[in-house]
Amino acid sequence: MEDFELAPIGQENYFLFSTSYQAKESSKNNDMSNKTLNLTDQLYDYILKSSLREPEVLRELRDTTMQLPEHNMQISPEQGQFMRLMVQLINGHKGIEVGVFTGYSALSVAMGLPEDGRLVALDISEEWTNVGQTYWAKAGVADKIDLRIGPAVDSLQKMLAAGEQGQYDFAFIDADKENYLNYYEYCLQLLRPNGLIMVDNVLWSGDVIDPSKNGPEVNAIRNLNQHIAQDQRVDIILLPISDGITLVRKL
Ligand SMILES: C[S@@+](CC[C@H](N)C(=O)[O-])C[C@H]1O[C@@H](n2cnc3c(N)ncnc32)[C@H](O)[C@@H]1O
Repeated sequence: MEDFELAPIGQENYFLFSTSYQAKESSKNNDMSNKTLNLTDQLYDYILKSSLREPEVLRELRDTTMQLPEHNMQISPEQGQFMRLMVQLINGHKGIEVGVFTGYSALSVAMGLPEDGRLVALDISEEWTNVGQTYWAKAGVADKIDLRIGPAVDSLQKMLAAGEQGQYDFAFIDADKENYLNYYEYCLQLLRPNGLIMVDNVLWSGDVIDPSKNGPEVNAIRNLNQHIAQDQRVDIILLPISDGITLVRKL
């Protein structure tokens, strides 16, 4: 296997259960047979070295994004690889991304799509998505990504008004948290039965279980988590990967 050096990964994208967080939580979980993964820095490095296969163009985009002050918004490379694998497993052709930033997740997913695959990518920022477009072209997948600039709620409503219900295989939700519930409901309508939604940041660095944290973002995430937990229209699993990812299968 090719040897590589790991570029630094932003805190938001680091596996949630850092040693300090785990230390806080471990006594609580001691009586459980399936304890939450205790991921040390060394174990995290081992996971990356043993399983990360990041194409060069993605690595370059990650290096470029690292220069931006907002670089922590980017998903981690292993999350990109995970999402690409999920999309391939469901034989995904047509997908939606809500929240593009500099295009790392869009590129990760688009590289796993078939030739006729399409990703409708929604964001409000021309500046950030311009960065992504350069690398999408470099990777030869620019034709697969249909970037639409504007508030994602408006774009999703337009897709519904155009009669696109049930036409999409998957969706990835990773934009402003206050609109997460809207994004979930719109994407669910746009998905075909058996389609997949991946919702990012559902643990919000662990703040979801901290009653002293009551900002609009963490509250919106708590609301969505509760909503999904009770939603009988879907099968779900919440994975403690990165900042927490909920996988949702439309029934
Ligand atoms: C966490 S970043 C997305 C990270 C991206 N998925 C990646 O892999 O790098 C969130 C993005 O949501 C976008 N955003 C925020 N509010 C939005 C809105 N109302 N509609 C569409 N996009 C929005 C921001 O411009 C930002 O690029």
